Amino acid sequence: MTPESGEPLLACRNVFKYFGALAAVNDFDLDVHTGDVVGIGGPNGAGKTTFLDVISGINAATSGEIRLEGRDISRVRPDLICHRGMARTFQLNAGFDSLSIRENVLIGSAFGLGDRGVPAVTYSRAMRERVDRALELCRLTDRAHATARDVPVLERKLLMLASAVATDPKLLLIDEPVGGLNPHEVDDVMEIVEGLVAEGMTIILIEHVMRFLLQLSRRVVIMHHGEKIYEGDTQGLLSDRRVVEVYLGAGTADRLQHMLAERAAPNG
Ligand SMILES: Nc1ncnc2c1ncn2[C@@H]1O[C@H](COP(=O)(O)OP(=O)(O)OP(=O)(O)O)[C@@H](O)[C@H]1O
Ligand SMILES: [Mg+2]
Repeated sequence: MTPESGEPLLACRNVFKYFGALAAVNDFDLDVHTGDVVGIGGPNGAGKTTFLDVISGINAATSGEIRLEGRDISRVRPDLICHRGMARTFQLNAGFDSLSIRENVLIGSAFGLGDRGVPAVTYSRAMRERVDRALELCRLTDRAHATARDVPVLERKLLMLASAVATDPKLLLIDEPVGGLNPHEVDDVMEIVEGLVAEGMTIILIEHVMRFLLQLSRRVVIMHHGEKIYEGDTQGLLSDRRVVEVYLGAGTADRLQHMLAERAAPNG
């Protein structure tokens, strides 16, 4: 079955993840089709990262069904899930400190694309081109030779994103790409992710910065205590009583309504 046949690219049904007695993900369903950009929000501890961990194989689900292109991946190793086309970034920065940005992205591409029996000594031309394109999309070309440990937090986040992009994923998972960044940097990352969307990339995005989540997502899911309490468009989200109650608060919802209205205005 392929996404073209109507099968979602990712289909999750009745997914549970327990830590002891805590249901961090509680009977969660989600379909993602090729070309979707799905934003996931919700309070701290809602289970957003755990859900990404479960679908990317970092942490196996306690129960439930997870299918990528119709194939069950609920018990597949994370590296093999990556080889099947799902790449992700992490909430906390991950990377090889002593290597350059470009070397980090090359390694992401080399190991993310398929099994390598031995570490790569040389990289194919196609791989190097893919890496250069990922660096360009993430606006890191001019910084490619900087050593990862020396670069500012924005570039550390972008190098992780570029490493994921360089695996040419069918589905890209991004966990809080702008946490800890200043408003100007948030705008930079927003433009970069908009560029990935323009390339046709299918994305699940977690973010607390709501203007980022609302601007990029075509569909929004809000989690609370492991459950989905909202799924729908951004307008509906801001007027959803439960979402306003448990997550946004009335003031933020009003401010975001105003922001969306300004953006929709012809001269806004
Ligand atoms: N490895 C673990 N062992 C035990 N409990 C965990 C583990 N990982 C997460 N949890 C718990 O599961 C719940 C969901 O955590 P998770 O990190 O998924 O939330 P989140 O929505 O990503 O929150 P945040 O917005 O703060 O990143 C929390 O109560 C957390 O303490
Ligand atoms: Mg999280």
